[in-house]
Amino acid sequence: MSEFGYRRGEYCAEDVPLSAIAEQLGTPFYCYSLAALRRRYREFEAALAGLPATICFALKANSNLAVVNALANLGAGADVVSEGELRVALAAGVPPHKIVFSGVGKTEAEIEAALKAGILQLNVESEAELEEVDAVARRLKKRAPVAIRVNPDVAANTHAKIATGKSENKFGIDLGHAREAYARAARLPNIALQGLAVHIGSQVTELAPFSEAFSRLALLARDLKADGLPVKRLDLGGGLGIAYGGERVPAACDYAALIAEIVGGLGCDLVFEPGRYLVAEAGVLATKVVRVKDGITHRFVIVDAGMNDLLRPALYEAYHAVLPVREPASKAKLAPVEIVGPVCESTDTFARERRLPQLARGDLLAITTAGAYGAVMASQYNSRPLVPEAMVNGREFAVIRARPDLESLLARDRLPDWAAAKTAAKTKARRQEA
Ligand code: LLP
Repeated sequence: MSEFGYRRGEYCAEDVPLSAIAEQLGTPFYCYSLAALRRRYREFEAALAGLPATICFALKANSNLAVVNALANLGAGADVVSEGELRVALAAGVPPHKIVFSGVGKTEAEIEAALKAGILQLNVESEAELEEVDAVARRLKKRAPVAIRVNPDVAANTHAKIATGKSENKFGIDLGHAREAYARAARLPNIALQGLAVHIGSQVTELAPFSEAFSRLALLARDLKADGLPVKRLDLGGGLGIAYGGERVPAACDYAALIAEIVGGLGCDLVFEPGRYLVAEAGVLATKVVRVKDGITHRFVIVDAGMNDLLRPALYEAYHAVLPVREPASKAKLAPVEIVGPVCESTDTFARERRLPQLARGDLLAITTAGAYGAVMASQYNSRPLVPEAMVNGREFAVIRARPDLESLLARDRLPDWAAAKTAAKTKARRQEA
C-alpha cells in the first residue's frame, strides 16, 4: 500500500494534495508522509520480532528533526556519524542508550560528546581510533562502550559508490586482523568491549551478500568467545534495499529469517542500522516545470529542483519515478522527455528518455521515493537556498524545515575588513549617482 497516490485527480500525500503544500510553501520541497514512516518502521520491527533487536535508524538517510522524532516515538534508536547527528537524535527524543556512533573519522571532540551523552556504543573502525577512544575515556574517567567494526571483504553487488564491505574500502578492520584487534581492545583499561559491527553497503537488493558477511561475523564471534572474550552484541548494519522502480527486493521477513539462522544461536543482542528502508518510500520531492525546451535530439522539461536538491540521479545515476501531480487522462499520449534542473551542469538531470504525458510551464511533478538521501544531501550550489521540507499527517501538514530567504544566504558571508570599507564607499557613490 502507498500513502502517496492519485485521489480525485491529484497526486496526494495521504489526504493532502501536493498542490496545496506548493501553494503555501512554493516549490521545490520535500514532502514526507507520517503514515508511511510509521508503516515502514512497523514492518521492519515486525520482521525482527523474534530477535533481541534494537533498531537504530541511520540518521544519514534523513536527519530532519521531525522525521527522527516520529521514528523515536515508535521506539527507534539512532545510528549517528557526526556530533551534529548525535545532537539531532538527542533533541528528537532518542534515548542515549539506543544510540550507536559509526564512522571512520570520528574526531576527538565527537568521541568526547558521545561518551558524555552516554550512548550505547561507538563502532570503532581502526586500531588507531581504539587507542584514541581509550585515551578520551581515561581523561573523562569513563569506560567507553565499543564495538569493533570489521570489514568482511564481501561484495554487496550494489552501486560501487555505496559499497563498503570490500577490503579496498576505507571501512572497518580487516577480518584477518579483527581477532587480534579485539584481544588488544579487551586489554585497554578504559574500553568496555560490547561486540562486533558490520555494514557492507547500501541499497543491497540480494540476500546472498548479507548471508556471506553475517556468516563471517558469526565465525569470528565464535572464535572470540572461544578465546574467552566477551561478545555481548552484534551490530548488523543497514543496507537492505528498496524498490525504486518495481524491481524485486528482499522482504524484511526473509532478511530476518536469514539472520535468525546465522546468528540466532550466538546468544548476542542485535543492533540494526536501517536508513533507506525506513524513509525512502515515505518522501517525494515536489517540483514545478519552469519551461519546456525542444532541443535537436530531445525535449527538455526544465524544473525548478536541481541536482543540489536531490543529488542521487547525478551522483549514482539513480532511478526515481517522476509523476505529474495532475492525474493524466487514461488515454494521454506519452512521449520521451529529459527532466532536467536549472543547475549549470549536464549531470543535473533527474530522468532520461522518460515517457510522460505532455507537460507545460507551471505543472507540478513529484519525484518519488526521495525520503532517503534526498534533503540530507542537498546543497546550496549555484547559491540556491536549501530545499524546504513538509510532513503530512492525514489531512494536515506542517512545514518541518522552512525555505531560507536569500537575505539569510547572503548574511552568511563576510567581507574582510580590507574590502568592506571600499565596497561600502562604492555602493554609496553608486546610490548617489542613481
Ligand atoms: N550503517 C552504516 C555504517 C552506513 O554506512 C550506512 C549507510 C547505513 C547504516 C545505512 O544504510 P541504508 O540502510 O540506508 O542502506 N547516499 C547514498 C547512500 C549512502 C549510504 C552510506 N551508508 C544513496 O543515496 O544511495
